[in-house]
Amino acid sequence: MNELEEIELQKEYIKKVKELNKNKILKYNILTMGCQLNENDSEKICGMLEEMGYIATDNIEEASLAIFNTCCVRENAEEKLFGKIGELKNIRKNNNLIIAIGGCMMQEKHIIEKIKKSFPYVDIIFGTHTLHKLPENLYKVIESKQKVKDIIDINGKVYENLPIKRESKIIGSVTIMYGCNNFCSYCIVPYVRGRERSRKPDDIINEVKELAKNGYKEIVLLGQNVNSYLRSEMEEIRAGKRTDEKGLYSKIDSFAKLLREINKIEGIERIRFISPHPKDFTDDVIDAIKDSNKVSKLIHLPLQSGSTKMLRAMNRKYTKEEYLNLVQKMKEKIPEVKFSTDIIVGFAGETEEDFEDTLDVVRKVGFEQVYMFIYSIRKGTPGEKMENQIPEEIKHKRFDKLKHIVEDIMAENNKAYIGTNQKVLVEGLSKNNEEFLSGRTDSNKIVVFKGNKSLIGKLVNIKIVSEHMWYLKGEI
Ligand code: SAH
Ligand code: SF4
Ligand code: F3S
Repeated sequence: MNELEEIELQKEYIKKVKELNKNKILKYNILTMGCQLNENDSEKICGMLEEMGYIATDNIEEASLAIFNTCCVRENAEEKLFGKIGELKNIRKNNNLIIAIGGCMMQEKHIIEKIKKSFPYVDIIFGTHTLHKLPENLYKVIESKQKVKDIIDINGKVYENLPIKRESKIIGSVTIMYGCNNFCSYCIVPYVRGRERSRKPDDIINEVKELAKNGYKEIVLLGQNVNSYLRSEMEEIRAGKRTDEKGLYSKIDSFAKLLREINKIEGIERIRFISPHPKDFTDDVIDAIKDSNKVSKLIHLPLQSGSTKMLRAMNRKYTKEEYLNLVQKMKEKIPEVKFSTDIIVGFAGETEEDFEDTLDVVRKVGFEQVYMFIYSIRKGTPGEKMENQIPEEIKHKRFDKLKHIVEDIMAENNKAYIGTNQKVLVEGLSKNNEEFLSGRTDSNKIVVFKGNKSLIGKLVNIKIVSEHMWYLKGEI
C-alpha cells in the first residue's frame, strides 16, 4: 500500500467507527505534552476523532476516550505522564474509558515496557509513525476489546489529507518537514521521529491557500530543522536516487523559495517558522526573509551553548564566533531583525568558563526571548555516556543566573518598545481582563489594549504605552 491508499483505508475506518458510535454521545479528552509539532499532530488526532463522531471535553470524568500525545525531550514528562495514567485507573471502570497514548515517548522501548507492566489497562499505544492509523486501532479496541500496540521504527513517511481540527482560527500551524538528521548529542528527537523528510511544495502551498481562504492571518511553518527543507530530497535527485519526472520541485526546491512563495499568498499577513538550525542558515534564506514583507523579523535561532567547546561536544556544527557572525550578518542585512533562542544549561563537561561564554553571547545578541532548559540526560543519546556530568545543584545555580540576566535584558528590550507603533495581530480577549484585547507584535510580544471585539483576527496599529515583564500595554 502506498501512502495515499493507507489514508483511504483509514478513512474507511473513520466511517466504521462512526457507525459503531451511532446514536451515542461520546466525548474525548486530549492532553498534548510536547512542542508545536506535537500540537500540530494533536490537531490531526482531533480532526480524525471528530469525524468519527467524538466531541471534545476538558472534563476527563465525562470522557469515553482519553488521549495523551507525549513528548520525551526532557525527563520531567515521564513522571507527569505516569501520574496521569495512574489517575485514570478508577475513572476507567466507571465509564468504559478507552485510553490511548501516542507521540514521541512511545517510540522509547523502556517506556513501553513500563506502561505494559504498571498500567496494563492502557488500550492503545501508538508512535510517531502510526498516528494516522488511530481510526483502525480505535476500531479494533471498540469492536473486539483488543489491546493495540502500533509502534514501528522506520525512517518515516509523509501522509497527506488527514482531517484536522485547528486550535485557532487566526494562526495556523503547517508542518513542512518531519524528523531530524542532526543528532545533537543531548537530543532524543532523531531517535523518536526518524530521518528528515519534507512535504511536497504543492501540498504545503495548497494547505496555506486553504487557510488563507478560511480567514487565517498568520502561518507558522514547523519542522525540527526548517532550513534544511527538501535538502535530503534534492540530494537524492542530484545523486540519481530519485527522479522528479512530475516536476514537483521545479519551482520550489529550498526553504528560501518556499518562504518567497508563501509570502505571495493573498490573505496571509504574517509568516513565522521554527526551528531553523544556525549551521544551515544560508544567504538565500536571509535574503528571502529580508525580501518577504510578511515574514516575521523575529528569528528563532537556537544557540544551545555559547562555548565552542560545548558546541562541539553537543555536535552542533558551529562555533561561538560563527553564531555571532551569523547574527551580525543578519543585523546588517535586515536592520529590524530580532532574535529568540533556546539554551541548555549544564550539559556534560560544561565548566564555569563555558557557561560564561553562553552569558557572553546572550549579552551580545540581546535576545527578545530565551527558552532555557536544564540539561536532562536522555537514554540512548551520546550525551548519556559522557563523563563529567554536571551535578544538579550546579546546573540549577547556572540556570538561575542565566534567568536573571535574561530577565534584565528583556526588561531593557521592553523599555525600547514604549512610544513605538507596533502592528499587532489581535488574537482574542485578554485572559486576565476581558475588557482588553490581546495580540502579538511581529516580534512575538504580547500586547494588551482596549478595543472592540470586531478587531479580533485583524492587524491593528498600536502605540505602546507601558511595559510589564511578560506583556506590553498599548492604545489604538
Ligand atoms: N529542533 C529544534 C529543537 C527541538 S527540542 C532545534 O534544534 O532547535 C527544543 C529544545 O529543547 C532544544 O532546542 C533544546 O534547547 C532543548 N532540549 C533538547 N534536548 C534536551 C535535553 N536532553 N535536555 C534539556 N533540553 C533539551
Ligand atoms: Fe534535536 Fe538537534 Fe535535531 Fe533540534 S536539531 S531536534 S536539538 S537533534
Ligand atoms: Fe516535540 Fe517532544 Fe517530540 S519536543 S518532537 S514532542 S520529543
